[in-house]
Amino acid sequence: MRAAIHRRLLWRIQRVLGNARLAWNEQFRLGVWDRTDCCEEVVRKVAGLAKGGKIVEFGCGPGMLPRRLPAGAFTSYTGIDIADYAIDEAKRLCAEAGLENCSFLHGDMASWAGGRDIDVIVLEECLYYLRGKQLLRFCEICRDSLAVPHGVALVIVHSHHKHRSTIRTCRKVFPKSVHEFYGSRTFLTLHRCASDDPSLI
Ligand SMILES: C[S@@+](CC[C@H](N)C(=O)[O-])C[C@H]1O[C@@H](n2cnc3c(N)ncnc32)[C@H](O)[C@@H]1O
Repeated sequence: MRAAIHRRLLWRIQRVLGNARLAWNEQFRLGVWDRTDCCEEVVRKVAGLAKGGKIVEFGCGPGMLPRRLPAGAFTSYTGIDIADYAIDEAKRLCAEAGLENCSFLHGDMASWAGGRDIDVIVLEECLYYLRGKQLLRFCEICRDSLAVPHGVALVIVHSHHKHRSTIRTCRKVFPKSVHEFYGSRTFLTLHRCASDDPSLI
C-alpha cells in the first residue's frame, strides 16, 4: 500500500518535471492501466457521434476503443498517446484483430499541430493532464481541427467536481457544449459550431 502511494507520488513528480513519457511508460509496463475492456457508454457514444467518419483519440492507451467499435463506425481511426509502450501494444493488438484503417502514433497533446476535417476527437480521462495555457491552446487546436459544422470533441472525466477547471476551459473555447452524466462520470460533447445548420454559420 505504502509502496503504491510512493510510486504514484514519484510519477506525479516525474510529470511535473516534464518526464511524462517516462512516468506513463512505467505505469503501462507495471500494468497499472491493464483494463481489458472499454466502457459500454463510451463505445455507444463514440459510434453515434462518428457515424462512419474520421476519429482521432488522445490518451488511447493500448487501443481498446477501435477494437470495440462496431464495424463501419469509422473510415479512419488514429490513436495518439505519450506512452510509446502503450502505442506498441495498441499496434500489436489491432494488427492481431485484423483492424483496418487504424493507426497509432506516439505524441504529446501539448505539442499537437492539429489536423483537418476530423469528425470526432476522443479525450477519455486524459485532458486534465494539461493545464493553463497548454490546455487552452490544445482545446483551440482541437476545435479548429474538427469538420464544419458537425465535428465534435468528446471529453470524459471521472469527476465533474475534481476536473471543473478543465471543463470550464473547454466551455470557454467551444461555442456549444452538452453535458451528460453516467454515474459519477461526465461526458462533455463539445461542438465546433453552435449550429449544425450550415446557413447559420
Ligand atoms: C488515465 S489514462 C486513460 C487511458 C484511457 N483513455 C482510458 O480511459 O482508459 C491517461 C492516458 O493518457 C495518456 N497521456 C497522458 N498525458 C498525455 C499527453 N500529454 N499526451 C498524450 N497522451 C497522454 C497516458 O499515457 C494514458 O494512456
